Amino acid sequence: MINIALPKGRLGEKVYSLLAKMGYACEDYSSDSRKLIFKDSAGKVCYFWVKPSDVGVYVQLGAADIGVIGKDILDEYQPDVYELADLNIGKCAMCVAAKNDWVDDTAMPLRVATKFVNVAEKYFISDGRHIELIKLNGSIELAPVLGISDVIVDIVETGTTLKENDLKVFKKIFDISARLIANKTSCKFKNAEVKALTENIKRAIEENA
Ligand code: PRP
Repeated sequence: MINIALPKGRLGEKVYSLLAKMGYACEDYSSDSRKLIFKDSAGKVCYFWVKPSDVGVYVQLGAADIGVIGKDILDEYQPDVYELADLNIGKCAMCVAAKNDWVDDTAMPLRVATKFVNVAEKYFISDGRHIELIKLNGSIELAPVLGISDVIVDIVETGTTLKENDLKVFKKIFDISARLIANKTSCKFKNAEVKALTENIKRAIEENA
């Protein structure tokens, strides 16, 4: 049996439906269910539905052999796992954004609000900019609007949240897409299953592109 950690939400559901088509379906799976674990009756596959930011933890610790995780979360938490494939779905970007009329005052430390403190710190260190980090857990766009930060480092997908709050992107830090990751031990001891699933999911994505 192969254990797969999927992120709750649209991305996880998309990956599940692709895998189901490739022969990894669970008869009793329903996206409306509050159940967190689904196994197929043949004992081939088991899915865990986890918070997106926790996928790497389950895979690193071996509860899941395989997981699907955004590049944003992978870079922020850096779990000790193998990255097997870029799935080319769930695309968005990690950006620095601020109020439309923001001008950087380089004489002052830059106040940066974000969920992604490691990503932000790494980026601004490489940029040589002294910063003060403000860790938030959501609705990051509020921080510059209410004046508690100068900029935010956050995910931009359609750009709607920024636009509707009179903010704009000043710098794209990196592109994001969903990645297939694997537990290091599983890659040795369940090599054939991990390989087969990787090839299947890559093919499913190509066919649905
Ligand atoms: C994410 C991100 C932005 C928004 C970007 O928030 O933090 O706020 O999506 O999407 P857009 O460019 O399509 O508008 P999420 O919905 O995950 O909620 P959060 O505020 O709790 O982080």
